[in-house]
Amino acid sequence: MLNKKLTLICARSELDKTSFITKNVSYKTQPVSVIVFAFEGNAYAYINDCMHMHRQLNCEKDTIFDETGQYLRCSMHGFVFEPKTGECQSPVCLGERLQALQLQEIDGMLYFAEKRLALID
Ligand code: FES
Repeated sequence: MLNKKLTLICARSELDKTSFITKNVSYKTQPVSVIVFAFEGNAYAYINDCMHMHRQLNCEKDTIFDETGQYLRCSMHGFVFEPKTGECQSPVCLGERLQALQLQEIDGMLYFAEKRLALID
């Protein structure tokens, strides 16, 4: 019996054409923005909420990566995060993690695999 709900995001190939996409979703009854991106061949999704001061990573610039492309970076104060785990690498929030969302790829299409998630737009 499936205990997860699949919600279509996009074709997996879409992530290879851009550095990230955002989706507005309802997650556990709260409206949130989500970032979805590919890194080193795998897709990742996190709630777009920096734990430092609860801003979206792309709030000041239209990017979620630092200049090396190896770390996520919040454009508000520059905190950086490991893309594969969402773990903060900056001293103030060291070890805290962005909230990851489960993904599943089926026949080239990418889905959120979360029970309490629904697309808002
Ligand atoms: S709000 Fe993200 S680094 Fe401060």
